[in-house]
Amino acid sequence: MSDLQRTQTCGQLRKADAGDEVTLSGWVDTRRDHGGVIFIDLRDRYGKTQIVFNPEHNAETHEAASVLRTEYVISVKGKVEERPEGMANPDLDTGEIDVMVDKLEILNSSETTPFEITGDTEVSTELRLKYRYLDLRRPQMQKYLTSRHKVYQITRRYFDSNDFVEIETPFLTKSTPEGARDYLVPSRINRGQFYALPQSPQLFKQILMVSGFDRYFQIVKCFRDEDLRAQRQPEFTQVDLEMSFVREDDVINMIEGLMVEIFKEVLGKEISAPFPRLSYHDAMNLYGCDAPDLRFEMTIKEITDIGAKSDFKVFKSVAESGGQIRGINAVGCASLSRKNIDELTSFVNQFGAKGLAWFKVDENGLTSQIAKFFNAELQKEIIERLNAAPGDLLLFVADKESVASQTLSQLRLNIAKSNGMINEEEFNLSWVVDFPLFEYNEEMDRNDSLHHPFTSPHPDDLKHLEDRPLDVRARAYDLVLNGVELGGGSIRIHSQEVQKKIFNLLNIDDATAQERFGFLLEALKYGAPPHGGIALGLDRMVTLLLGLDDIREVIAFPKTQKATCLMVDAPSDVDEKQLRDLGLSLLKPD
Ligand code: AMO
Ligand code: AMP
Repeated sequence: MSDLQRTQTCGQLRKADAGDEVTLSGWVDTRRDHGGVIFIDLRDRYGKTQIVFNPEHNAETHEAASVLRTEYVISVKGKVEERPEGMANPDLDTGEIDVMVDKLEILNSSETTPFEITGDTEVSTELRLKYRYLDLRRPQMQKYLTSRHKVYQITRRYFDSNDFVEIETPFLTKSTPEGARDYLVPSRINRGQFYALPQSPQLFKQILMVSGFDRYFQIVKCFRDEDLRAQRQPEFTQVDLEMSFVREDDVINMIEGLMVEIFKEVLGKEISAPFPRLSYHDAMNLYGCDAPDLRFEMTIKEITDIGAKSDFKVFKSVAESGGQIRGINAVGCASLSRKNIDELTSFVNQFGAKGLAWFKVDENGLTSQIAKFFNAELQKEIIERLNAAPGDLLLFVADKESVASQTLSQLRLNIAKSNGMINEEEFNLSWVVDFPLFEYNEEMDRNDSLHHPFTSPHPDDLKHLEDRPLDVRARAYDLVLNGVELGGGSIRIHSQEVQKKIFNLLNIDDATAQERFGFLLEALKYGAPPHGGIALGLDRMVTLLLGLDDIREVIAFPKTQKATCLMVDAPSDVDEKQLRDLGLSLLKPD
């Protein structure tokens, strides 16, 4: 039991407290010896306070302080003193005072930490994740997690004040259809059978609407065994909600209200709603992807018709074979060197593009090694189509539409980032709407749901479900922030017949539908109200709010790219006996 009980935090004391007797507890941040006087910055979650061990003030505690090293945990009792004229530290909230120590209690020692807790030294991600408790002791990380906490609180308050009910849904459940692989949990009691961890609470929240809860929300973990690209974690958190008797606008307005609150309270920023809406069709045409970064223009233009009239073989043959020639105007980038352009060419190769055709624009028209294949008239058409002016660089990809779009959407971002065309302070929120219900899966030669199979088709397009399924629009919407998909949702199917029909179109036969989603189909028979909802990726949201790139920065205990936790060392082997209890045996490694 400690004798000293803290009276203030390390971020609290000010000039007005001078003369008071206080007790502080915390970690030794830095230690400096100046002519026999020991100065220590004492740190806790709230800040730092300079504490002073002066032999002339108290010889005994000065002596005791000689053993203190960084990250020792101590309590000190002493008197607050205003710092002498000119000695205040403006970088510290408590910088106008010192605490002159009379009593020291060492609560714990610390070995030398593998990296500094404060300071700007680069630390490898691996080390940070292995010693996550030390990483989380860093003021920066505490700030990130505290902001995340704020987002939880605002979210709960907001939904509570809008009559939503927070309801937990199970983790040990059955496969849900979000399109990733499931994490499976073997059942000991029902040997040979498995639970799946939910990829989202999608089916449960729909069931809750059938139960009449009308407005549900949850801040919930979701689990997806997928390839971990940037902005993805195998377990992540959603702000999940569902509402009854609503149309698209109701869900969209509700989320806009939440985002306005979050920006106001976390960043002190006023953002204005409604956010602009863009159709999926326009997003793909103008930006080449369904989550465009709208902080800069640089829209994609098609010049297939012009390319077809040129003498450039690549363009002519792509145009003749039904492909597209699409390009962007990198405004003011004509000064890029050949080497820069070669790098861009290697960049586009990653996305399957076979090359990158380019032109620099000057007063006389286009210049480049392929300009000779375009007569003056065609050059003029290209310049007009791309709104180009002298000093601009025009970049084109000729390929099938999907490759050209995807490549240019990445190229657009690359150029904007490396040429300072993005205002990093800006938060650009928008909705993408009118998604198609299905997308063609080339590999499997079949149509898949673009969102999930419970998404309602647009009523005007129902008649085309059979003859033109790929033209049928979904009542789905995605929220996009600075080119990142923050959330997605839809109005759902609440009729059992329509739901069955969609399963059939997805080649999910009746028996499979019954086996996987029988409970939902059954529930839809008993007075299911019209309903819809959305889920926002909370980790992504906090990452972007804080201006960070990596979602692991805002997750207390994240996983590596290989889905491992370096701190607890998971996943790990289990006992033979545990496997036997579960009725499992491992295959020999390949
Ligand atoms: P969806 O699958 O689009 O929709 O997920 C919603 C949001 O969750 C975030 N997200 C992720 N964040 C981090 N790591 C991941 N692996 C990851 N996967 C998704 C994204 C995404 O926009 N049930 C539906 C929602 C609904 O229809 O209401 C669903 O889960 O920000
Ligand atoms: P080549 O005729 O292969 O020497 O290519 C001439 C230029 O056209 C080079 O700059 C290539 O990068 C570019 N190019 C080749 N294939 C394509 C393509 N499919 N789309 C756009 N540019 C291409």
